[in-house]
Amino acid sequence: MKKRIAVLISNKGTGSNLAAIIDAVKIGEIPNAQIIVVVSNKADAQGLMHANKNKIPTEILDLSSYKTIHKSREDYNRDLARILIKKYDPDLIVLAGWMIILSETFIQNFTNKIINLHPGLLPDGKDSYVYLSNGAKIKAIRGLHTDMAVKYALDHHYPASGSTVHFITAKVDEGPVIIRGEVPILPKDTVATLYSRMKIKEHEILPLAVKLFCEGKLHIKKGKIEIS
Ligand code: GRF
Repeated sequence: MKKRIAVLISNKGTGSNLAAIIDAVKIGEIPNAQIIVVVSNKADAQGLMHANKNKIPTEILDLSSYKTIHKSREDYNRDLARILIKKYDPDLIVLAGWMIILSETFIQNFTNKIINLHPGLLPDGKDSYVYLSNGAKIKAIRGLHTDMAVKYALDHHYPASGSTVHFITAKVDEGPVIIRGEVPILPKDTVATLYSRMKIKEHEILPLAVKLFCEGKLHIKKGKIEIS
């Protein structure tokens, strides 16, 4: 049976990681998977174009409209979970540029079934530091949105930055790490040049993490991932 994947995107991104997953499924790199829905927070998210082109159903759930009618963030989370469970019954939820922090109740509905792509290198669990491939230790970049996370690495003169695919838990940016994609920082790098290389890496690591999940190769042992 094919694994049913829901991808959550937002109008803050370009949808390039969604496109990378769609392509990987299409060319058979992730053979046992099917993208069953793309959810966006806004109707003008660029990524919806990729969903429409590939005839993937879409759902728009706008948090600001909840605020207008005095409904809470928890109402939003509850409705999002309800739509996903009742209409789509996903095996995996991929956050690919999704910007809304999901509530604990939402996450409990999908334990060990939600993965996130984070534009910084993260350690396992709540450690403050992460080790680069050359052994250098850098402070983990947590809690910052994309451009700010990329800028942080440059401002702090890190030798490298990168992105991380991890399972999400109620603690933001602290879930078990599946893959880190390290990207060296070059002397003349700007946010734009560094981020463009990070994205190339993201387009490799996110589909790979999805593939490993769909093949049942990811095992969480004591808060860490073991790949079989
Ligand atoms: C990615 O760079 C990811 O690290 C961050 O949001 C961005 C989404 O990019 N969480 P795109 O929309 O897939 O191009």
